[in-house]
Order: sequence, then C-alpha cells, then structure tokens
Amino acid sequence: MEQLIQQLKVILGTNFALYFKSHSYHWNIEGSNFPQYHGFLDGLYNEVFAQNDPIAEHIRQLNSYAPTSLARMLELSDITESDSIPDALSMMRNLYSDNERYIVHLRAGIAAADSANEPAVGNFLQDLLGAHQKKAWMLRSIIK
Ligand SMILES: [Fe+2]
Repeated sequence: MEQLIQQLKVILGTNFALYFKSHSYHWNIEGSNFPQYHGFLDGLYNEVFAQNDPIAEHIRQLNSYAPTSLARMLELSDITESDSIPDALSMMRNLYSDNERYIVHLRAGIAAADSANEPAVGNFLQDLLGAHQKKAWMLRSIIK
C-alpha cells in the first residue's frame, strides 16, 4: 500500500508540472501556426489541470495526505521545470518527452495498485493512461 501511495504522489506532482508547463506554453507560444498551437495547448492544459483533483482525492481515499506546497509538488514531479521560452516545435518536443515520462509513472501506478489489491485505483489510473497515450499520439504527430 505504501508503494501505491508514494506512486500516486509522484503521479500528482508530475501531473501538476505537466499542467503548468502546458499552460505556460499556451501563454508564450509564437509562430505562424499560433492559432492551432494555442488552441491545442488550451485543450491540453485544461484536461491535465482537471486531473489534479481526482489524483489528490485518491491519495486521501488511501488515508494519506496530499501535498500542501508547490515546492513539494515540484520535488515529487519527474518533469523538470522550464524557465525559458523555446520555439514552438521545441515546446511540442518537450511536452512529448514529458508525457512519455508521465506514462512510465502511470504504468508503475497501475502495477502498484494491482500489488496492493486496489482495483478501483488501478481502473482510475488505466483511464488516465489511456488519455495520455492519446496525447502521445497527437504530440508525436505534431513533431514528426
Ligand atoms: Fe488562454
């Protein structure tokens, strides 16, 4: 159970970092395809933001506490922060590789839920995995 809780916390921190990076890219992206990129990122950050709440509530359901500081969120995240503004294609490449890292943690979470005999948590993470595999396809198609 401890392993599942820890993995959910890593998933929360990573999700939060992916949310913030995609929102900051939405604000700062430039280029001739601005409307498409801006719109795509709008969909991405909104979807990822909405996932923070159910992930944190699953941590609470397992009788642990959710992080209470942004510093702790970043410590838990496997996605590094960006303090620069790359060109549009580099932004998409960064989001693709961040999303791939996230997928590794979602798979680990599903395995941990299985080991802890928590199928409902596993089901939740499977849906999340499916959503991020779809994002992987879209990002891969953009950067090809
Ligand atoms: Fe906006």
